Amino acid sequence: MSELPKPQFTVYVVALIAALAGLLFGLDIGVISGARVFIAHDFHAGDGVQEAIVSAVLIGAVIGTLISGVLSRKFGRKRTILVSAVIFAAGSLLSALSISSAMLIAVRILLGVAVGIASFTAPLYLSEMSPRKIRGRLISMYQLMITIGILLAFLSDTWLSYGGHWRIMLGILVIPSVVMFAGVWFLPESPCWLFLVDRKDKAREVLSRLRATISEVEAELTGMEENLQQQSNGFKLLANPNFRKVVFLGIVLQMMQQFTGMNVVMYYAPKIFHDAGIASATGDMWTTVLVGLINVLATFIAIAFVDKMGRKPILALGFTIMGVSLGLVGMMFSLGMTSALHRYFAIGMLLVFIAGFAMSAGPVIWVLCSEIYPLKGRDLGVTISTATNWLCNAVVGSTFLTLLADFGDAHTFYLFAGMNIVFIFILLRFAPETKGVSLEQIEKNLMSGVALNRIGK
Ligand code: BGC
Repeated sequence: MSELPKPQFTVYVVALIAALAGLLFGLDIGVISGARVFIAHDFHAGDGVQEAIVSAVLIGAVIGTLISGVLSRKFGRKRTILVSAVIFAAGSLLSALSISSAMLIAVRILLGVAVGIASFTAPLYLSEMSPRKIRGRLISMYQLMITIGILLAFLSDTWLSYGGHWRIMLGILVIPSVVMFAGVWFLPESPCWLFLVDRKDKAREVLSRLRATISEVEAELTGMEENLQQQSNGFKLLANPNFRKVVFLGIVLQMMQQFTGMNVVMYYAPKIFHDAGIASATGDMWTTVLVGLINVLATFIAIAFVDKMGRKPILALGFTIMGVSLGLVGMMFSLGMTSALHRYFAIGMLLVFIAGFAMSAGPVIWVLCSEIYPLKGRDLGVTISTATNWLCNAVVGSTFLTLLADFGDAHTFYLFAGMNIVFIFILLRFAPETKGVSLEQIEKNLMSGVALNRIGK
């Protein structure tokens, strides 16, 4: 087995830069919560307009995801990430210069397009660049960046809020966009994509920089060659029941991630803390920062264990923790939060919930969704699952306040708790374990009709 020069370091550097797309995703999601009040004041925006300003990014993200399949297939993963960095930079600048709510809404739709493209392309690129033994860890770095982005946004919101500088809050995001553009410029293109567009020598050259031995490089290339010969392209693949099955699995996995209820806490943490009896604005602020911090820290659990324990055990544990903690939050609300102890227990449980998400469904659903599709249908599959993620994100975000008003706090939390428990069964029954298996092997199993929960064998 001939050895190639140390690829591990290169792989980590490549992954870190590509994962910056997650940072922008997180910054953008997080920044608006702090800026909203000041924007509303300057533009005299009522509730409806404020909601539109917040959710414009989600609409843009769905559009971005839908076009990124075509972009990444035609122009490659790398150039698609570069496009998203340019849109991020332009959108951040324009949103800081907005002169009306209408302009801000339009610009935030554009920013959403960049978020959508990034959330599609980065995990896909990472999965195709990674050696199989550390693939889960490297894709999880993308989620780590998302959580760091959210935390940084919470912190900068808190810091800049003293002077109400919302234009700076939004405009400052130009800096990470430029950094990402400059970093990604120097990255190699994905070997899988190069292979797909018949630039096989270049694919071999890139793989040689990323793998430890020549035999690993050759095995991956042979796997791609065999798989490509057997299949038709993108939409035509939908005629194949095995492909349809896995597309459906991707949809269900992303629905599960969003219906854990995570974004309810992301978007409405201050309100939940307020309802639980932490009344002061500073209390709200610091607990929100704490939410962001726990979200970052617990992601390291996934990074450490996703390639050792595997995807399914981590997810099963995460759903259990989320189900139980949300159930207890619901119980505390129904008991009425009569003492400080009750209140702190409820808040503690909410933080346990965040940790449960961050160590499991946060990163691992993205990991699975970038691993399960065959190469020729990967753009289409990831487009569909990522669009599902954003659509469900919008549904959860826009219905939570109504749920609270109609069902009350306790029942709303019971509802999310119950869903998490149901997800354990769906996971165990249908999801595959993909730890340590090459993408080519997963594809071979899937397309030869093996049951979904066994395609990683
Ligand atoms: C989810 C987002 C969520 C974030 C929180 C991501 O994996 O897709 O919807 O806001 O995690 O960390």
